[in-house]
Amino acid sequence: KNIVILISGRGSNMEAVVRAAQAEQWPARIAAVISNKADAKGLEFAAQHGIPTAVVSNKDYPSRAAFDAALQEVIDGFSPDLVVLAGFMRILTPGFVAHYENRMLNIHPSLLPLFPGLHTHEQALAAGETTHGATVHFVTAELDHGPLVDQVAVPVLPGDTADVLAARVLEQEWIMYPRAIRWFVEGRIRVEDGKVAIDRH
Ligand code: GRF
Repeated sequence: KNIVILISGRGSNMEAVVRAAQAEQWPARIAAVISNKADAKGLEFAAQHGIPTAVVSNKDYPSRAAFDAALQEVIDGFSPDLVVLAGFMRILTPGFVAHYENRMLNIHPSLLPLFPGLHTHEQALAAGETTHGATVHFVTAELDHGPLVDQVAVPVLPGDTADVLAARVLEQEWIMYPRAIRWFVEGRIRVEDGKVAIDRH
């Protein structure tokens, strides 16, 4: 199976996926890491690990639709079975999302349906939540919605700042996201009527 990972920045989730795929010898390869930002830190890690990289800069296109069309062409050049969004900070057009229906995953740092969008850790603190976390879901046209694959919860502790809380969540993301992607490449995830069924053995 071919996995294409999209990033915009640090790429720590991408790194966790690359490491897990290697260490656990997945029946899959990371075919490419693609960024919409030329200076995304994660591109260096990917290149160092011999993974093809590409940059499709949204700034080079006059519209979202034009950008998405260009991005789709680059992605499809790697014949992906799965597209993984890992800190990819662009809103995608419905046509793009439909093209990868049931084969595009995202990780979002909140317990969806709580706190879609940006600044999730600030939102959770402001709401006085005592539990927070992250969600892996299939991507649908509506931002941060779509069939849930997995969630992980962490406590919100007294004195937490958004950064401290984000770090606590991120550590769990690095475990949860590779695991969900491995389920996918092993053919253990089915989506039926907008619901996910996982064969966890
Ligand atoms: C993560 O918190 C992820 O949940 C969110 O963006 C952040 C990306 O971090 N979508 P990284 O680039 O994977 O380090």
